[in-house]
Amino acid sequence: MSKVTQEGNLSKSTNIVWHKASVSRQEITDKRKHKSVILWFTGLSGSGKSTLANAVNSALFEKGLSTYVLDGDNIRHGLCKDLGFSDSDREENIRRIGEVAKLFVDAGIIVLTAFVSPFRSDRDNARALVNDEDFIEIYCSAGLEVCEERDTKGLYAKARKGEIKEFTGISSPYEKPDSPELIVDTGKETLEDCVENVLMKLKAVNIF
Ligand code: ADX
Repeated sequence: MSKVTQEGNLSKSTNIVWHKASVSRQEITDKRKHKSVILWFTGLSGSGKSTLANAVNSALFEKGLSTYVLDGDNIRHGLCKDLGFSDSDREENIRRIGEVAKLFVDAGIIVLTAFVSPFRSDRDNARALVNDEDFIEIYCSAGLEVCEERDTKGLYAKARKGEIKEFTGISSPYEKPDSPELIVDTGKETLEDCVENVLMKLKAVNIF
């Protein structure tokens, strides 16, 4: 028999009892001297999410902070390799990433997620898993024209030829965030400026 979890999702597991961790998130963040948070990068394929997330990660690492990047293309090689790009597979992809990111926050780590995450409701579901202050949505706003012009992986050309179905921005929708915590114009600004914007935001909300 299934039951409804705290988040309202159906769970097939019964007879399970939550085991309280011996080291709390508070104790970890006190010792590491920085807070943990999810930096949720969203935007079109080729908008620079992974590049920016990795550059921010390097900058935070240099400061000695505990961080980790979860990247769409990489995660789809393992944890999510059973998923494609239908709406429901993307929903499941983002659901899993939300749950994994939540674990990282619990572990006192700044986790940077770089997923297209095209649907507002899926991003909002991920947001709802943690406290308000634990989720910073960062919209990488490079538009379709720029991303298609760059076409770093050659996927837009394939999508235009119909060789890739359900491609975000071409044959599958991208829903821009309504009120992200931060917008970075990855179409116009330099990578250095984008990194600086993110770091300033983290300082403004006292992550470090
Ligand atoms: S998401 O929509 O479920 O969030 P995710 O970020 O994991 O997508 O993966 C997107 C990456 O997969 C893109 O950057 C691109 O390299 C690749 N990809 C392959 N097929 C598609 C597709 N149909 N739509 C979007 N991205 C695709």
